[in-house]
Amino acid sequence: MNPIIAANWKMNLTIDKGLVLIDEVLDCSSPDDSEIIFFPTSIALGSVSNKLKNTGYGVGVQNIHHKESGAFTGEISAQMLQSLAVEYAIIGHSERRHYFLETDIQINGKTQNALNQGLCPIVCIGETLEQRETGKTFEVLKKQLVSACKDIGPEPEKFIVAYEPVWAIGTGKSASTDQVHDAHKYINATLNALFEKHIPILYGGSVNAENASELYAVENVDGFLIGGASLNAKSFCQIIQNVTKNIKRSL
Ligand code: PGA
Repeated sequence: MNPIIAANWKMNLTIDKGLVLIDEVLDCSSPDDSEIIFFPTSIALGSVSNKLKNTGYGVGVQNIHHKESGAFTGEISAQMLQSLAVEYAIIGHSERRHYFLETDIQINGKTQNALNQGLCPIVCIGETLEQRETGKTFEVLKKQLVSACKDIGPEPEKFIVAYEPVWAIGTGKSASTDQVHDAHKYINATLNALFEKHIPILYGGSVNAENASELYAVENVDGFLIGGASLNAKSFCQIIQNVTKNIKRSL
């Protein structure tokens, strides 16, 4: 399977700057050997999705609401994204869990809404430094995963999980290949017990041009969810190139 390389721009880049960055990434990559997905700010989704129409590149939203519709000022539902040809939704990113106090129940609602509207959820899970240091990593990963997947059938149309240790996000300190190996192995086993199909697992947390090759080489790493390094065409293109030259054809 081709690697999945997702660019989470978070609350960065104006619409115009985002479109320029996309042009540069289109010039340095090919949708034939990787699944590249852009997650711009919500107000840029229309322009980005128009630009990427029929190119083979994907567009996703950084968040959706856990209810289908209603009096939720400022929120966006999964259904509203259909007319924008958005295909993916990041769900339960640790910044949403921590700054916006998203709960596991809400994250499950978001995941269900995404699937009901034909969006592919990218469910983010990951432990804090304290949880890692007190030996709770696997317990936390399992709890977050099982609750996000509650009441989801054994063969969801599309489903992706991202392992993002909270302490590695935006810190410049990525998890080691051993740590990624162990976490992805555990997540893969947990997913195998929940689902009857292969669910890709991305790693996220300070991925950059220097560490992308060795992290991608780790078993059960199917791609990356990239924040900071996706905001710069040079570093993002370098990551794409480092990953695509080592595609795991056997998967
Ligand atoms: P980072 O962010 O690459 O800047 O660490 C990753 C993420 O939050 O998805």
